[in-house]
Amino acid sequence: MTIQMGILGTGQISSALVTGFCTDDASKQKLHIYLSPRNAQKAAALAQQFPEQVTVCASNQEVLDQAKDWVILALLPRDTQRVIQELHFAPEQNILSLISDHPMHDILRWTGTKAKAIRMVPLPFAAMHIGPIAYCPADAEIRDLFAPLGQLIELPDEQALNTILTLTSLMSPFYLLIHHAAEWGKQNGMTDRAAVDYMTSFFEALSVMARQAPDNATVAELCYDTTKGGLNESAYRYITQQGGYDIWMQALEQVKQRLQK
Ligand SMILES: NC(=O)c1ccc[n+]([C@@H]2O[C@H](COP(=O)([O-])OP(=O)(O)OC[C@H]3O[C@@H](n4cnc5c(N)ncnc54)[C@H](OP(=O)(O)O)[C@@H]3O)[C@@H](O)[C@H]2O)c1
Repeated sequence: MTIQMGILGTGQISSALVTGFCTDDASKQKLHIYLSPRNAQKAAALAQQFPEQVTVCASNQEVLDQAKDWVILALLPRDTQRVIQELHFAPEQNILSLISDHPMHDILRWTGTKAKAIRMVPLPFAAMHIGPIAYCPADAEIRDLFAPLGQLIELPDEQALNTILTLTSLMSPFYLLIHHAAEWGKQNGMTDRAAVDYMTSFFEALSVMARQAPDNATVAELCYDTTKGGLNESAYRYITQQGGYDIWMQALEQVKQRLQK
């Protein structure tokens, strides 16, 4: 039987999930996705790319009426309460919330649903079927549905989920680090393409090595095992002395505090 999935909010993360589902052979066979009309351009592009699997609905209520199995909430935090409270959810509707800033008890108060309630942190690379997808609580249906999109990480509760959500805020700073380093490479004679290729290949290989580490102390050894008095030592000592790592930790703390409000 086809799984009927509705998504409220057709933005960046919904587009990634729809792409991930619709480019996986097994998911394609068993899933139909109903998208809300906003963002109209993104919804139309997805329906055009995946006409067999994706239908754009005329209204948010139509999404709920079609989504017999799962409703995914992918709205911005600031819009969520208003949009949800304008709609009628069936009490037996299963809810999967991707919304960062709202705990599940708030979402359920607004939907009034009594069925499954899952919170998840997917990321844009789910479109490519790679990377972690954290969620709670554990659920066999969700495991089955999302396994093709990445590495599922089942968490015991929302506190653990918020810790991971906080860590995911390093995604943009990481991309900006690549960008700035590649710009520096360009200013020092590299072509744009060569600088981006080098930095991404370099960080990819470093991540692969760090993933082999049995624990976090071993990750630190990867840093200290570089040449004594060498180039890497110059760089990490300078960054440490300037408080460079402290700033990254402070960024995590302020995101954590935002999620605790
Ligand atoms: N992006 C990520 O990597 C990521 C990862 C995990 C979780 N999340 C969470 O997912 C949620 C969405 O994030 P996003 O990055 O995908 O944001 P986004 O690209 O801004 O998507 C939000 C979408 O909601 C639409 N929308 C606005 N008002 C609406 C309404 N009344 N009815 C239906 N749709 C409406 C917007 O349409 P318009 O463009 O027309 O305004 C937009 O397409 C957020 O809560 C975020 O915390 C995001």
